[in-house]
Amino acid sequence: MCGIVGYIGYREAFPIVIKGLRRLEYRGYDSAGVMLYDGNELVVCKTKGKVADLEERCKDTTTAGATIGMGHTRWATHGVPNDVNSHPHLSNSGELAIIHNGIIENYEPLKKELINRGYTFKSDTDTEVLVNLIEDVQKTQNLKLGKAVQVALRQVIGAYAICVFDIKKPNEIIVARLGSPLAIGVGENEYFIASDASPFIEYTTNAIYLEDEEIAVIRLGKKLKVRKIKDDSLVDPYVQKLQMNLEQIEKGGYDHFMLKEIYEQPSVIKDTYRGRLLADQGIIRMAGIEDNLERFVNAERILIVACGTSWHAGLVAEYVIEEFTRIPVEVEYASEFRYRNPIINKGDVVIAISQSGETADTLAAIKLAKENGAFVFGVCNVVGSSISRETHAGAYTHAGPEIGVASTKAFTTQITVLTMIALRIAQAKGTLNHTDYRRYLQELERIPEQVKEALESNDVAKEIAAVFKDAPNCLYLGRGYNFPVALEGALKLKEISYIHAEGYPAAEMKHGPIALIDEMMPVVVIAPKQGHYDKVVSNIQEIKSRSGKIIAVVTKGDTQVRDLADYVIEIPETSDALSPLITTIPLQLLSYHIAVFRGCNVDQPRNLAKSVTVE
Ligand code: F6R
Repeated sequence: MCGIVGYIGYREAFPIVIKGLRRLEYRGYDSAGVMLYDGNELVVCKTKGKVADLEERCKDTTTAGATIGMGHTRWATHGVPNDVNSHPHLSNSGELAIIHNGIIENYEPLKKELINRGYTFKSDTDTEVLVNLIEDVQKTQNLKLGKAVQVALRQVIGAYAICVFDIKKPNEIIVARLGSPLAIGVGENEYFIASDASPFIEYTTNAIYLEDEEIAVIRLGKKLKVRKIKDDSLVDPYVQKLQMNLEQIEKGGYDHFMLKEIYEQPSVIKDTYRGRLLADQGIIRMAGIEDNLERFVNAERILIVACGTSWHAGLVAEYVIEEFTRIPVEVEYASEFRYRNPIINKGDVVIAISQSGETADTLAAIKLAKENGAFVFGVCNVVGSSISRETHAGAYTHAGPEIGVASTKAFTTQITVLTMIALRIAQAKGTLNHTDYRRYLQELERIPEQVKEALESNDVAKEIAAVFKDAPNCLYLGRGYNFPVALEGALKLKEISYIHAEGYPAAEMKHGPIALIDEMMPVVVIAPKQGHYDKVVSNIQEIKSRSGKIIAVVTKGDTQVRDLADYVIEIPETSDALSPLITTIPLQLLSYHIAVFRGCNVDQPRNLAKSVTVE
């Protein structure tokens, strides 16, 4: 939820930390701070606001000469966003500094205990409790920093990725994780620490991803030591060679990451099926599926758990999997699933969908499913993420880094993976006839070209956005495969433009929402030729006769809806089951342009964070 960066080496730490924080701002951006150490003085500079505000705040601070630094960009959990609650936090002696991503759930009893022992607190954060707990352990048990952190963490309930620095040990930084990601970049005589690899990719491609319940002592000139927090056993850290490059994580000429990521969809969808879909040969081949084909084929039920946009991808998958494989599918919000004592049977296959692979509720749902004996399959984008490691098997979406907080390319690549899974199971089960199976493979292969064509609706979407940019409300309607797309379209608009929007199955209109329709209400209707076209046309007529303003997404060449609608956006024709991959595109563009017209911060909408690592 927050972003953490650290550096220890021979270079100036401040520019590295600041640049890293900018790359991690998608994780949270209500306050930011840095700690620097130049061999004499420990300097802390922090502020409410964004990394740009932090730079301004640090203008009068001496940053030169420091070769050790830590930085933090925050998404508040305990304590409102203000200067005092910003990280880093210092211990009472002023000797220890900490940055923290996560939540210490039992911070209140720990804090009470520390207050009884004479500690005082400046902030409302759980993090300040942790740094003082470490100090207390260090002093009372006369332990080295690494051991003191380890002992303190054994008392903690919750989630964390932390970096701790002790002025008395100026050659080392201690890092640890439980439930929040933490990567260590290994350079020549230097180490980088970050929530993901993007802050250090330009310096090194060697990375160690700390596992849950691991602590590492990063000491200059020494080999990195990793231990298990609980039993102190030594772990041999695995150094990964990273594949991503800097260009992938920069804007590449677009005004916003979101727009860049929308436009990347033709190429990333291709990346998603590359080597997996051999349409000419009638083959779908995904290692995670092939290795577990029997489980899928014999599954009595498929349960899908996810949150937000990934949950919408799960709903699309429900339609596709049931249609192709005849296996019953249930789609659950991970946050509900984990707390409602769900029925999970041994014959169930659970699919967890997550772009970040770090969503706390989805992780918890996976753990619950595993405890109940289910086989859990992950569909993740971030390689090496917690969910990809926690699941029994999985398939990556290969969408590349998604930086814009609003998910776009993650959604379409998730649908691509899930559709391939459905097709492969259907082929193995024989629930889809061979001609249809081959046709879907050919169509799937054409999707990137069709997405490219759908992107040509950008100018029309922008014109429509200019008309409706001040609308207070908006309805999105779709049927069948495009009902989840309606939900996703509404979510996109809400989150980046702050316009209230709702997605509905088109036929549900008359059971309530139709009362909202008047000449002020824009209604986006997804009405491709395939699917329940005639039914949707009737729904459009119902809106029209109540003076609603209709924005229709139609198949190229459509005339019937064009005559009824106030505005139309044309998309290329594909089969009903694959249509969400195309109909989604204009809705993404529409939300994007509305948000830009409204002057909203498209890539970092208020109150949101890219990966929700707290429940
Ligand atoms: C919306 C959005 C969120 C995420 C949700 C799950 O645009 O990005 O709704 O989809 O927080 O995140 P992941 O997929 O990382 O588990």
